[in-house]
Amino acid sequence: MDKIVIEGGASLRGDVEAGGAKNAALPLLFACLLTDQPCRLRRVPDVADIRTTRTLLQTLGATIEEVGPHELIVDCSGVREAEAPYDLVRKMRASFLALGPLVARFGRGRVSKPGGCAIGTRPVGMHLAGMMRLGARIEETHGYVDAVAEKLTGGHFIMEMPSVGATENVMLAAVLARGSSRIENAAREPEVVDLAAALSDMGAKIEGAGSSIIEIEGVEALGGYDHEVIPDRIEAGTFLIGAAMTRGDVHVDGARASDLGLLLECLEAAGATVVVEEGGVRVSAEARPRSVDIVTAPHPGFPTDLQAQWMALMTLSDGRARIAERIFENRFMHVPELARMGADIRVANGEAVVRGRERLSGAPVMATDLRASVSLVLAGLAAGGRTEVLRVYHLDRGYERIEEKLGALGASVRRVPV
Ligand code: UD1
Repeated sequence: MDKIVIEGGASLRGDVEAGGAKNAALPLLFACLLTDQPCRLRRVPDVADIRTTRTLLQTLGATIEEVGPHELIVDCSGVREAEAPYDLVRKMRASFLALGPLVARFGRGRVSKPGGCAIGTRPVGMHLAGMMRLGARIEETHGYVDAVAEKLTGGHFIMEMPSVGATENVMLAAVLARGSSRIENAAREPEVVDLAAALSDMGAKIEGAGSSIIEIEGVEALGGYDHEVIPDRIEAGTFLIGAAMTRGDVHVDGARASDLGLLLECLEAAGATVVVEEGGVRVSAEARPRSVDIVTAPHPGFPTDLQAQWMALMTLSDGRARIAERIFENRFMHVPELARMGADIRVANGEAVVRGRERLSGAPVMATDLRASVSLVLAGLAAGGRTEVLRVYHLDRGYERIEEKLGALGASVRRVPV
């Protein structure tokens, strides 16, 4: 297992490219299960979660060809197996997205139930309620979920809350159902919109993705797609926060201001300069950040996946910032680690109060989940002295070559085998 070693103190400066969005690429890969035609996916990030998905699809019988850097052709014509085993699902919860396409195309899907994870219990009840609305029978035995339906039928599904995964899973099933479906209170994330675009390219009839009502008219069969994944707004946002935090100046190539709305407003409120440029977004800062409260919420609210990074920024602010986490019940695992670097943070009732300090001091710290680990990397960049971030595999789930990208921006970041 590697660790990341950071010598803090340098300002991030220069241009960096946002890779393809992991959270968009995952459902797009599962969409390949819906057709026996090849699908070509471009700008696929080379991160651990994508490798897990590739292994899962191959276990089901798919062939996957790497035709260029970040470019895959996925052929699911050979898929006969309809079971996603525990070994792979436990590595990555998004594997549960296999359920919708499997039951839609093969009449049966069997997927291991994902367990909890560091940030909360993360149930799948809404995914299952959605499948049942489409006429699937659900059985849960021996840690697996079986969804069976000779032919799914269109249905009307009102979600208790706009779950990203459940919206995607139901979309992936409803596109091949008989008749029309309607998802209300649907997630509006850009990744949902990207999935709808690729499904439309395959011949699906979908309207409303990006709004809270998605309408789908099922079709008999779908063809392949040729699709480029949207740039990763979370990776982009991480670099932009890093620029503000190190009083640097960074242009993130590919960052889409329309996907980053509230973050950019918050960065401006914190005193950074935000410029929407051709092909990307640039953030610079010269002074200590002002404190800015945030409340995480479904898109277009402040993304929970940027909460830890925002907290890292606020540890250096000139006041007191309130950070409320409303999506996951236990997403403050980075707090004790940031505290080891000198941050002053109190947590109570799903809210953190951060009193900014003038400086942090480098320390050995432990990554606990994907976004928590990158917040520790950001803190390490801004801190005095050396920071070592252990358990880097969390980081590798969602950030490609982060040490190289940060290095190119002037930071001293090394990956060291332990
Ligand atoms: C996706 C993202 C993740 C992000 C999250 C919220 C992917 C691969 N992952 O995760 O990075 O942090 O959206 O933006 O895209 N819930 C239920 N029952 C369900 C499903 C969800 O109660 O059946 C709850 C969850 O526990 C959580 C909330 O709904 O409290 C939102 O979760 P959801 O939007 O489903 O997150 P994911 O799709 O798992």
